[in-house]
Amino acid sequence: MEYVPPNLLKNLQRKHLFHSGELGFTQSIGNSDLLSGNVYWFAYARQALLHGMRFLKIKKGDKVLVPAYICNVIESPFKEMGVEIEYFDSNWDLTPDFNLIESKITKNTKALLWVNYFGFPAPFKQIKEFCDKHNLFFIEDNAHGFLSKYQGKWLGTIGDISITSIRKSLPIVNGAILRINNKAIFQKHSYQLEKLHHADSLIKYVRNYLLWYFKSKGMINKRSDRNSQDHVVYDFGNSLVQFPDPILDIRINSITLIIIKSLNYEIFYLNRRRSVERVNKFIKILEKYSFSSLFNNIPKGTIPLQIPLIWQEEEKRMKEVLRYFNRYGVEAFYWPDLPDCVVRNNQKYQIANRLRNKLLHFPI
Ligand SMILES: Cc1ncc(COP(=O)(O)O)c(C=O)c1O
Repeated sequence: MEYVPPNLLKNLQRKHLFHSGELGFTQSIGNSDLLSGNVYWFAYARQALLHGMRFLKIKKGDKVLVPAYICNVIESPFKEMGVEIEYFDSNWDLTPDFNLIESKITKNTKALLWVNYFGFPAPFKQIKEFCDKHNLFFIEDNAHGFLSKYQGKWLGTIGDISITSIRKSLPIVNGAILRINNKAIFQKHSYQLEKLHHADSLIKYVRNYLLWYFKSKGMINKRSDRNSQDHVVYDFGNSLVQFPDPILDIRINSITLIIIKSLNYEIFYLNRRRSVERVNKFIKILEKYSFSSLFNNIPKGTIPLQIPLIWQEEEKRMKEVLRYFNRYGVEAFYWPDLPDCVVRNNQKYQIANRLRNKLLHFPI
């Protein structure tokens, strides 16, 4: 295998990756159409999804179609509500395989969830047409796409409902939103979000944490880490999605909320775009060394959270490559910790499992 030569890697790291992006505060973000309108604030996107599904009157026994290439924490709101997840494999290029999705629809199927992977826009037009044809709600999972745009529109404002995990894009303790974008749905459904007070939130958190801790105790000895599914450190990964997930009851931190609302959008956006350009130059060089791009270009307005590259050689050598990057100060990681049933059924969800092992992600 041809590695990127160490000197080149050191230079690239210094030139393109090492930077301290300014966040830029002062001007209110609160006036933006992303954070105003029918927006509800939460600590985590999975909590936003829970309330989003309640808002849509999705109930126990109903089904929601979810791509198999997804993080396992997505399961906790479904478990909490007794809603079934019907997983399906995507295409290799992370676009929806509509024929496969169609074959999974039953009379209990109420919605299709699709992810704006890493902050890249999804094929919204086709998804919307598909959902209209089959009378499904479109849940836009924009966990990764805070402040990313598509044709001038914020990601997170396009599905019937959208969830955005703001905490992933900013240095804050927590913070996520649910946005109800479909006005007709908003008017028709009169769901009242229960107000979660700090004290209640804390009590529920402690109670659920203890339940979670004792339930998951048996699993703590299993070992895994972010970059492998089979070894190192404690495995809270799978136990996290055991019911109840304590995170579902945490209230958004009030200082966090002030930080988000006082962010200067323009500066933040420009800085992120600059980082995108820098990392992109780095990526172009890596393409000469056994990697290829999953996304051919970064569309105008897109601010990815990370850029995935496809490793062209043997999968088992990936760990070695990862360590090599890390040694030269280049952060790279696998994504995600797949849901348990996707890992177990790796023939059925072959693409999700292969993408998990073949893609290396570079954060922006
Ligand atoms: C695609 C996707 N959706 C939803 C979530 C849930 O976000 P949160 O951790 O804020 O609940 C995550 C990540 O954790 C994710 O990667």
